[in-house]
Amino acid sequence: MIIGNHNFSNTAILAPMAGVADTAFRLICRKYGAAATVSELISAEGLVRANDRTQHLLDFTQAERPYAIQLFGADAAHMAEAAKMAMQRQPDWIDLNFGCPVKKVTKRGAGSAVMKDLPLMQDIIHQVVEAVDLPVTVKIRSGWDNSSINADEAAKIIEGEGAAAVTIHARTRQQAFKGKADLNIISLVKQAVSIPVIGNGDIFCGKDAMNMINQTDCDAVMVGRGSYGRPWIFNQINHYISTGTELADPPAVLRIDTCLEHYRLALETLPTARAVNEMRKHIGWYVRGLRGASHLRQTVFHLTDPQEVCHTLMAFRNEIHKDEEKA
Ligand SMILES: Cc1cc2nc3c(=O)[nH]c(=O)nc-3n(C[C@H](O)[C@H](O)[C@H](O)COP(=O)(O)O)c2cc1C
Repeated sequence: MIIGNHNFSNTAILAPMAGVADTAFRLICRKYGAAATVSELISAEGLVRANDRTQHLLDFTQAERPYAIQLFGADAAHMAEAAKMAMQRQPDWIDLNFGCPVKKVTKRGAGSAVMKDLPLMQDIIHQVVEAVDLPVTVKIRSGWDNSSINADEAAKIIEGEGAAAVTIHARTRQQAFKGKADLNIISLVKQAVSIPVIGNGDIFCGKDAMNMINQTDCDAVMVGRGSYGRPWIFNQINHYISTGTELADPPAVLRIDTCLEHYRLALETLPTARAVNEMRKHIGWYVRGLRGASHLRQTVFHLTDPQEVCHTLMAFRNEIHKDEEKA
């Protein structure tokens, strides 16, 4: 797949995930073979109003590249202005979010609400493409609801306005995360356009990725929840695509080591209290299914000192190591 002057060798991109895929997690996923990363969704209105918290979301490090900044909004002129501001950070491309189902976003006509107003979508893409000297990609859902599935029609508009690729999360806004992603919609989008199509929804292992590619002919896939506590899923997908076999999860000790590395990166890139807080859910995901996981989760949820959290994780790791040696 090619976006701008990036010719990707790997196939699976880390999905933008607000509250999950921040710099620390994006770095870990790149290390484990993610083809590219995307920022959390960033409000164009927040950028235009110079909101500090929003500005901070633009931060990234070189090792996250290829890296896209994702914007959402419902005002084409503000989206274009925000895209110019984002361009100053020199991401590899700009991604436009027309898929977010969250009420706070859709009630302002942004995110997946734009699927109901394709002329607005066209205007936003048009103004953003004009405004920036970077490739622009677009992320959509299947449509607003089951009676208005229009991803293929949207994709034609997206291509017509000069976007470099389209990502399709094959669920409607009404479905939110329920039901199954509909691979037929990804096929329809792929047939509708000749720009790269990135398929998204319900990839939890290498085989899922390969099935999506085989069934839809999409050019790349995007993985969200399947990466929770399992950043190595990207290596597993790369492995499956090249060999047709599943690569096992790493041994438990290595999983905890990755969690500790992730923890250190979070401490380096976020204010301490925020890092401790954000990492609680990630720790829960990394230890899922391991003996003693529930006790560890409860302990960690009450700790506020990062050193204590790391010591607790190390002790957990050493217990597992002993068990593995005995086995
Ligand atoms: C916690 C969470 C946060 C998300 N935040 C964003 C976001 O900021 N921008 C976006 O385009 N999609 C966002 N999504 C949607 C994902 O990018 C992806 O489309 C969706 O999770 C389906 O892929 P999956 O089945 O692999 O998880 C989010 C999803 C989750 C679960």
